Amino acid sequence: MKEKITQLLSEIRSAQVTNKVQLEEFRLKYLSKKGIISTLFEDFKQVFGDQKKEVGQLLNKLKNETQEKFSSFLQNIENENTSTELNDLTLPGDPIQVGSLHPINIIRNEIIDIFKRLGFTVSEGPEIEDDWHVFTALNFPEEHPARDMQDTFFIEKNPDILLRTHTSSVQIRVMENQKPPIRIIMPGRVFRNEAISARAHCFFHQVEGLYIDHNVSFADLKQTLLYFAREMFGNETQIRLRPSYFPFTEPSAEMDISCNLCGGKGCAFCKHTGWVEILGCGMVDPNVLENCQINSKEYTGYAFGMGIERITNLKFQVKDLRMFSENDVRFLKQFLSTI
Ligand code: DAH
Repeated sequence: MKEKITQLLSEIRSAQVTNKVQLEEFRLKYLSKKGIISTLFEDFKQVFGDQKKEVGQLLNKLKNETQEKFSSFLQNIENENTSTELNDLTLPGDPIQVGSLHPINIIRNEIIDIFKRLGFTVSEGPEIEDDWHVFTALNFPEEHPARDMQDTFFIEKNPDILLRTHTSSVQIRVMENQKPPIRIIMPGRVFRNEAISARAHCFFHQVEGLYIDHNVSFADLKQTLLYFAREMFGNETQIRLRPSYFPFTEPSAEMDISCNLCGGKGCAFCKHTGWVEILGCGMVDPNVLENCQINSKEYTGYAFGMGIERITNLKFQVKDLRMFSENDVRFLKQFLSTI
């Protein structure tokens, strides 16, 4: 046994390992559970008498030297790997994956930019709201259909906690906390209990606008919206306002722009009318001002609200609303160059 160990010792001392495969072979042969050294320790149990001490010492020496050898091989291989990586400056770099902004964010930012140029600042509010901020303070009558479970996602009933159905709720939060003059836009996500299809989704995005000051008139509203439409869709864009109804504005209107696909001549997109609807607006109802402790004899204001998906569709002609929330990289990558 002594001879065997001495022979192994010289074998180990002269061993050469230059790569990971050889290192693993070395480990399996000598150091693994079924390797030579473990087997020798098994055999050592049969050694008795004065032999025991000497063979034992020799065997330990073999084990230690083999382990040291293994560690130094490992270190060499690792050093070699890092040093080649660092030294070869001609190696091509790892490609950097550049992400793209979501089309909804691109348009949201563009809308914010346009209104910032007119002195508007951005405000945000919570997506989980109460009845007061979404309906009551906005002058919604008790029996209004939007208060129905079929249109609104309720989280709790009595007191009502719900997912906001429009960003008009942020108007109330700001007016409750700020004194006029107020000139803000409020982008955000809204929720409605709708069946999901190419044309409707249970969540989408809006931007709300609000301007409250002395002597704000409908003419101010019209001019602001015309400026917005032309900045967004080009200088040739025409607007038209149709009378409408919203509980929180009086008078109320809906705004159309001349179809930006056919230039107003009529096409399939505008259903051959030459016009497409883009937003709702009006003069803030005095009841809403009073609900927020703003004196409606002293102040007037206008408000407007638009769907970001709608504006995005007009700019990018996305045919199916569901694409916005499917996170399909093939779809999202197309907007890379528009950042
Ligand atoms: N909140 C309305 C909606 O979700 C949009 C709207 C219309 C907002 C008229 C306004 C407004 O501020 O004046 O359909």
